[in-house]
Amino acid sequence: MRKIILLAMMGLLLAPMTAIAAWPTVPEIDGLELELDVHNKASLQRGARLFHNYCLSCHSAQYMRYRRMAEDLGLPEDVVSESLMFTTDNIHETMQVAMPAEDAEQWFGQAPPDLSLVARSHGPRWLYAFLHGYYEDEERPVGMNNLVVSNTSMPHVLVGLQGVQRAVYEEVDGEQRFAGFEQVSEGSMSPREYDRAVTDLVNYLTYVSEPARLQRERIGLWVLIFLVLFTMLAYMLKQEYWKDVH
Ligand code: HEC
Repeated sequence: MRKIILLAMMGLLLAPMTAIAAWPTVPEIDGLELELDVHNKASLQRGARLFHNYCLSCHSAQYMRYRRMAEDLGLPEDVVSESLMFTTDNIHETMQVAMPAEDAEQWFGQAPPDLSLVARSHGPRWLYAFLHGYYEDEERPVGMNNLVVSNTSMPHVLVGLQGVQRAVYEEVDGEQRFAGFEQVSEGSMSPREYDRAVTDLVNYLTYVSEPARLQRERIGLWVLIFLVLFTMLAYMLKQEYWKDVH
């Protein structure tokens, strides 16, 4: 009986792992490595600049307030209102989009989704791959396709930075398999600079998807230190109380 209970408990413990294993996989794009650090304020600030300049025109981040972002990123409020706020003058507002949803739906066939939680729903690696996944495709209306979201209606808004790339396929066992990208025309950034810029952008979206994480991790550390000290204290007290009993 005890064995069965033990096995059942182990099963319960392992269940979340199988859930993780079942997450959608990101097509492997060679050399894509992603190292995020939501405590790196300089990176978050660069990411914010990209996000507010290139993404907020279509996507909202409606769970995020400008004021909170200014505080967390260590940016003065006047800098935020001058260079990062394009749809409102009120720093207490959430990050809304200028374009009405019906217009967007007409132009793109589908309204661009809110991005507040996208780093959690899809995962940072997926985002990183998505923003690296655009390639030239003459069969698409805008001449571009994406390896991660095929036939996406989102244009490659960072094409000026990345330049245009072409997907190269190789034949393996009679099947066409993606083999890598080849640069067709250059953008204003080198490939490494683009990797870094997208890392900053994904870092920022990861922060936006859970702003409380910055505080949580700081408080968490103190809770752990407290627990260790408390355990030591409790142990010492126990020794003291039971000293005369043995
Ligand atoms: C010109 C408008 C436009 C701009 C600017 C834009 N997007 Fe999009 N985006 C879209 C549309 C439309 C979709 C829906 C595409 C689809 O599902 O086919 C989309 C979808 C997405 C998705 C997929 C979301 C999901 O849940 O599947 C992500 C992630 C995304 N965009 C990120 C970004 C980021 C990051 C930027 C800034 C670098 C950006 N977008 C800029 C129009 C835009």
